[in-house]
Amino acid sequence: MFSTKRNIVITGFMGTGKTSVGRELARRLGRKFVDMDEVLVKRLGTSIGEVFRQHGEGLFRRQEARLVAELGRQKGLVIATGGGTVLLPENRQDLSRNGELICLESAPEVVIRRLEVPGDRPLILEGKPRERIYRLLELRRGSYAMVPRHIDTSHLTVYQVVERILSHLGLDEYRILVHHGEVGYQVFVEQGILANLRQRLPYVIPSSRCVIVTNPTVKRLWGKTLCQALKGEDLACEFITIPDGERHKNLTTVGRIYDHLVRLKAERNTCLVSFGGGVVSDLVGFAASTYMRGVPVLHIPTTLLAQGDAAIGGKTGFDHPLSKNLIGTFHHPVAVFADPLVLRTLPLRHIRNGLAEFIRSALIGSEDLLSEIERNKKKLLAKEPKALESVIRKCARIKAEIVSRDPYEKGLRRKLNLGHTIGHALETMGEYRTLLHGEAVGIGLVVALRLAVRRAMCDPALAERVVSLLKSLGLPTELPKSDEEKLWNVLLLDKKTKNGRPTFVLPRKVGEVETVEGLTRHEVIETLKELKGGKR
Ligand SMILES: NC(=O)c1ccc[n+]([C@@H]2O[C@H](COP(=O)([O-])OP(=O)(O)OC[C@H]3O[C@@H](n4cnc5c(N)ncnc54)[C@H](O)[C@@H]3O)[C@@H](O)[C@H]2O)c1
Ligand SMILES: [Zn+2]
Repeated sequence: MFSTKRNIVITGFMGTGKTSVGRELARRLGRKFVDMDEVLVKRLGTSIGEVFRQHGEGLFRRQEARLVAELGRQKGLVIATGGGTVLLPENRQDLSRNGELICLESAPEVVIRRLEVPGDRPLILEGKPRERIYRLLELRRGSYAMVPRHIDTSHLTVYQVVERILSHLGLDEYRILVHHGEVGYQVFVEQGILANLRQRLPYVIPSSRCVIVTNPTVKRLWGKTLCQALKGEDLACEFITIPDGERHKNLTTVGRIYDHLVRLKAERNTCLVSFGGGVVSDLVGFAASTYMRGVPVLHIPTTLLAQGDAAIGGKTGFDHPLSKNLIGTFHHPVAVFADPLVLRTLPLRHIRNGLAEFIRSALIGSEDLLSEIERNKKKLLAKEPKALESVIRKCARIKAEIVSRDPYEKGLRRKLNLGHTIGHALETMGEYRTLLHGEAVGIGLVVALRLAVRRAMCDPALAERVVSLLKSLGLPTELPKSDEEKLWNVLLLDKKTKNGRPTFVLPRKVGEVETVEGLTRHEVIETLKELKGGKR
């Protein structure tokens, strides 16, 4: 597999898209981008055209070779070369030592069209540009052919070229992307990414100022690491602290965030950064979507649940005393940085809590994830970073794929509500103090499976399998002491309830769920009674 340390070197003739592709690729991978021509212009203090005119091509090529040698010694970069850089075998050699070369090529007519936009291109300034381009292309063809990988960009968008490069390099595993509309963002799941944030942050956040919102627990445990990671960067960072816990996921806390933002004179391009669990990312996402009608937000989730789920997908909001997550917006982040190493300090109850939500995702999307959780139970509960990283990545990918197909929950995305109809009702009934979100969802999964079995939609064996997995992870599978009538009434306040009848997502088998509307009072209450009686 392609090592994350190796450079990716984008080369090719002028007008093939090296710079735009390189820049986008770097952004997507969270790497540093180096545009060689840009560096050289800075170093030489004048345009390339001017250097050619005053000193001849020789001086430029010597400086270029020096830069190539320097870059060849660095790691983890995306480099866009100049059009002539790889003509010299020594340059090709230097760049390939620690890098993978990719040559972009385009049909001459396309190149000519793209070059109609004025630019600093001394080699085609004189004479008839069309003829010069054909001649240069002819001259260089042999050298470009020495580069092992080629992509024809004639009919591709920058985005499509980047996709191809990633798949050429076998980087699919690291490509967790969420698309919404014409844009998208990347979810990075990587051990140690928090400490290395400095290198990544400037490539994803659109401003030089950020306001980090966190709670006292996360700040005490990881605030210093974050501050250290950001230090020295050309970036102003301020902290806002909000109270910890689901019971503070309300309008009062949102108000506090606004107050701080006003006091700090946060501007339209100030980036809000959520640093904490799902409560923090939901609240900060909401504040970001409404403050000044919307400012960018970046999520750095620090719980298992938030890393694999809550921080991805752009749903924001807070609870109403009578209904969970009742008020909210859609506001997609600019990126998500999930570092499994921060889970070291997460209490075991919250690891279990996250795993319940992951089992929900597995039931919707992947047998592979479900069996991995079963197989690696012990390692996961022991917080082994590698085991955690793998399930987070799989879970994040399921969420990202579903969200990308339906970013604003018009249809398909509703299936993520599996286990949540009952889950939310239970959370509300406990006034957001008794059960954690994932725990409530775990019980909700059991109810959904039981309802599906009752309707003969699903094999009872699947229900048994999930109950036994939840139990072995130490998660609750039975209803807490509760009144079914009361629970039914809370269900009616659910956002998906229609004409006084709740909507449930019910599983058919792993990877196949269905939204079922209009469940009857009788079937729901009977199922709840069964569960309370401890019957599985
Ligand atoms: N927007 C969405 O799509 C979405 C999806 C799922 C869940 N959610 C929401 O997420 C919330 C649940 O998130 P959660 O489970 O992360 O809860 P949480 O945010 O309350 O965090 C759990 C606890 O862990 C602490 N904590 C966080 N990181 C820690 C660390 N590294 N070490 C030690 N302690 C740490 C927190 O301070 C908190 O006390 C719910 O409100 C739920 O509605 C939202
Ligand atoms: Zn959830």
